Amino acid sequence: MSYDKVYAAWKADPNGFWMDAAEAISWDQKPSKALFDENAPLYEWFVDAKVNTCWNAVDRHVEEGRGNQLAIIHDSPITHSTKGITYLELRDRVASLAGALRAKGVEKGDRVIIYMPMIPEALEAMLACARLGAIHSVVFGGFAAHELAVRIDDAKPKAIIAASCGLEPNRVVHYKPLLDDAIDQATHKPDFCVIFQREQEVAKLIEGRDYNWHGFQYGVEPADCVPVEGDHPAYILYTSGTTGQPKGVVRPTAGHLVALNWTMKAIYNIDAGDVFWAASDVGWVVGHSYICYGPLIAGATTIVFEGKPVGTPDAGTFWRVIQNHKVKSFFTAPTALRAIKREDPKGEFIKEYNLKNMQALYLAGERADPDTVKWAQEHLGVPVVDHWWQTETGWAIAANPLGIEELPTKIGSPSVPMPGYDVQVLDEGGHPVKAGELGAIAIKLPLPPGTLPTLWNAEARFKKSYLEHFPGYYETGDAGMIDEDGYLYIMARTDDVINVAGHRLSTGGMEEVLASHPDVAECAVIGVSDDLKGQMPVGFLCLNAGCDKPHADVVKECVKLVRDQIGPVAAFKLACVVDRLPKTRSGKILRGTMVSIADGKEYKMPATIDDPAILGEIAEALKGLGYPMA
Ligand code: COA
Ligand code: AMP
Repeated sequence: MSYDKVYAAWKADPNGFWMDAAEAISWDQKPSKALFDENAPLYEWFVDAKVNTCWNAVDRHVEEGRGNQLAIIHDSPITHSTKGITYLELRDRVASLAGALRAKGVEKGDRVIIYMPMIPEALEAMLACARLGAIHSVVFGGFAAHELAVRIDDAKPKAIIAASCGLEPNRVVHYKPLLDDAIDQATHKPDFCVIFQREQEVAKLIEGRDYNWHGFQYGVEPADCVPVEGDHPAYILYTSGTTGQPKGVVRPTAGHLVALNWTMKAIYNIDAGDVFWAASDVGWVVGHSYICYGPLIAGATTIVFEGKPVGTPDAGTFWRVIQNHKVKSFFTAPTALRAIKREDPKGEFIKEYNLKNMQALYLAGERADPDTVKWAQEHLGVPVVDHWWQTETGWAIAANPLGIEELPTKIGSPSVPMPGYDVQVLDEGGHPVKAGELGAIAIKLPLPPGTLPTLWNAEARFKKSYLEHFPGYYETGDAGMIDEDGYLYIMARTDDVINVAGHRLSTGGMEEVLASHPDVAECAVIGVSDDLKGQMPVGFLCLNAGCDKPHADVVKECVKLVRDQIGPVAAFKLACVVDRLPKTRSGKILRGTMVSIADGKEYKMPATIDDPAILGEIAEALKGLGYPMA
């Protein structure tokens, strides 16, 4: 069937479409219908079903004869090791871990925070929670203790599962002291912690609170899968919004299973037994959907890669992994390819490996710039699929669905909406604009299965952030257009979220940290264009009257403060002191104009600007930081 036909079939009968897709899931109790719209504009899917995610991702495949197939391949160029885990082994390991968690009191509905690097145990921890119906919340390892503490206080976990350390190419990340610090900072205290001791660093355990991953499983009864209701939260994943308080995106169990399973074939063209690799991190939504759950639900083999696109040891590492493990579909962020392209512009490393198994490359997480897409097309010789989605949706809003039909590629566009998504471009008044015109991108409600039904403990914030601006629609926070052929173009965010190396960050959150510095009276953070990372944060600091500290010292302290409070992942390294910030007469900081100056773009003098001369001062300050880039 063609994409047009599949999309039309969904539009004509959404309920029937998703009930058909639901046939592929192994239910404890089948749903009576797909959509539950009684509480519109809040929607739920498959609410009256009973199902278990871990059963569908693990046990089911053992029952169906895939026990000896590899479920997970761990490849770590940092530790120079490769290890495979079969579905049978995975089931036993997860059942044992879940049994130990249960023996310590973890039950359906309890929250468990997971703070782990790219090791198979991170997936096992997620699956063990799913087995019990416990709700996990994975926190990315590049966040600092304070960010972890904020998530502990919001999710109120009964337990925290962590590793002793993470391994970055140039340093060991000491997870345990970060965890201890976060628990000290948080008001909520978990009942207990489970620590996976890596051989690279053994952490000190706190008697009575911390348990050793292996030791605490000794002698416990393995746990069976606990069926949960269709709308039971599978997990909470925090993502950046406009403030320092992250949004807890809730993922509903049944919709997640149905939608991810559908995408594995329709978008990624993956069948049971194939090898799929998403080079992301379990701390991000890509890691949840396509390192852990999606490939496992589909009965495929997933790769857990602990390394970087370059430097571990070289720009050929991705191609080695694809060759050695026979990867069929590969997913990464454009920034990773830009890093490779910068070191290997002619694609010499690519020629050293046999990539015959790879059938397609998928890009997401940020805008895929045309140069990078063309480079990949030329050197890899496979379809390059840019696809657009968000933590909130959990799967692609727009893509080129290779498992249905390979549509013509338009470079710069993530192609067309997937079934379930009625995507529209709206003007400020909420009216659809004409093809080719720019506007806010919104999705007509209801969103499809698997997308967020609400924010954790924050329904009012959910409505305010996503549903109120354009009644009847979900506001994506992205701006762009749809062309005459129905292809989408994602151009920019409409809020203060920036995208640094495929990581979603809040400039508002960074401003809150900077404003806490005793010498800072006022500040602004903007995202400027960066050749490698897409965007980089730059801070502007106005100091308190009478502050006689050298500016360079204040800048240094501010850079350290953001690293200590948010974490290295913020990549906040550039800041400058200015006398004033450009504002409108009503006091709104003109961040957009500052971005244009930094990027060397033409801009219109804002009619409401209070004092145009300040823009000259901002341009001078940016020049001092090397912007606009040559
Ligand atoms: N734990 C601890 N620290 C981490 C971390 C983790 N899991 N991941 C990143 N960091 C740290 C890095 O060590 C670095 O610290 P530094 O300032 O001391 O050097 C900082 O966070 C920024 O990291 P990163 O953004 O990864 O930049 P980099 O300069 O180390 O590498 C790239 C540049 C382009 C190679 C890298 O950003 C990359 O691979 N990006 C792809 C990201 C991706 O796949 N995103 C997908 C999201 S869907
Ligand atoms: P995250 O929630 O971290 O996945 O970030 C989602 C945001 O990243 C989106 O709202 C977009 O701003 C951006 N994004 C993700 N994928 C793409 C893409 N293919 N093209 C352009 N922007 C993207």
